[in-house]
Amino acid sequence: MKTILYLGSVVVFMLLDVRGSDLVEFDESASKECGCKSTSRSKLNDKEETQDEAVDLTFASSKYSAAANIESNFERTNQMSFIKGDIFNMGTNKPVFVADGEGPERVVKVDSFYMDIHEVSNAEFEIFVNNTGYVTEAEKFGDSFVFESLLSENTKSKVTQAVADAPWWLPVKGCNWRHPEGPDSSIKDRMDHPVIHVSWNDAVKYCEWVGKRLPTEAEWEYACRGGLQSRLYPWGNKLMPHGWHWTNIWQGEFPIENTGEDGFISTAPVTSFPTNSFGLRNMVGNVWEWTSDWWITTHSSEAVSNPSGPATGKDKVKKGGSYLCHQSYCFRYRCAARSQNTPDSSAGNLGFRCASSTLPEYLQHMG
Ligand SMILES: *[C@@H]1O[C@H](CO)[C@@H](O)[C@H](O)[C@H]1NC(C)=O
Repeated sequence: MKTILYLGSVVVFMLLDVRGSDLVEFDESASKECGCKSTSRSKLNDKEETQDEAVDLTFASSKYSAAANIESNFERTNQMSFIKGDIFNMGTNKPVFVADGEGPERVVKVDSFYMDIHEVSNAEFEIFVNNTGYVTEAEKFGDSFVFESLLSENTKSKVTQAVADAPWWLPVKGCNWRHPEGPDSSIKDRMDHPVIHVSWNDAVKYCEWVGKRLPTEAEWEYACRGGLQSRLYPWGNKLMPHGWHWTNIWQGEFPIENTGEDGFISTAPVTSFPTNSFGLRNMVGNVWEWTSDWWITTHSSEAVSNPSGPATGKDKVKKGGSYLCHQSYCFRYRCAARSQNTPDSSAGNLGFRCASSTLPEYLQHMG
């Protein structure tokens, strides 16, 4: 805890001169669609009901703690930050994407909880798979969505389908979390990058095994805002205070050229970029993050307490935008922004982090 508090105070100091309330000029073209929700699996696998065999959950979640805390050759990034509950303004009255249900701004109360400091990394996910033999949905379906320019010519030449409204998304055979750009790619040199090509169902199983759960959308957004009121980003309203890159998004002309000025063309290590004042990294940018809520676009402006979304639905809410987002296209690397996918969907820009109402016992003695 001491480490977190210390980090927190350093960040608060840094935030003093960046949280300025400069108004952001919204580019009209920001309303152009980016295909953020085009990577839903149902579009390609309409008739495939391959998921009859229920996921093998013989690994009881009660067995998690010992295994979840094993030694690994890789840096553990499973620590959590305490998020003190409060009321906050959720959503925005200045929506960029009205149809996404970004508004209205409404008063929401969340109870205290713990949030993963980092997005779940390949190393952390591999510990889970090593201990449980878990097979992800992308592995069962045999494919997942990848952004075209990240593929090798060889892999690209084998793709036969594309997404009509977002042709830069290609369904790639043999693509999964271990092979993020298809069979000729590996995670060997990016064990500290966020795990991708994991479905909502996969994320739920992972969080359960480590004694955590997915955050609600309200918890996620409250955590993203880091105590700031009605600001765009976790650090304020300016995209690049001090001229620094504060998040991993797209620079250059989408979808033609990604100049990678922020240091990354694709995912960045989960430990990169500054924390917000709640001690959390990469809440916006890098990869979209699953939340536990079902998707709905109409919200009452009444104040609510610990909302957890509708009881049922078709899509799950994802938050935070990704390394593919650019202001001209997918201006969704804002705390209020949101998008959706079916719970069995996976893609190369979609990952997650876990939350918990109480700190798992095995994390209480760390740091
Ligand atoms: C998973 O198991 C393999 C084989 O034992 C090992 O080489 C690897 O380091 C393990 N992964 C992690 C993240 O500990």
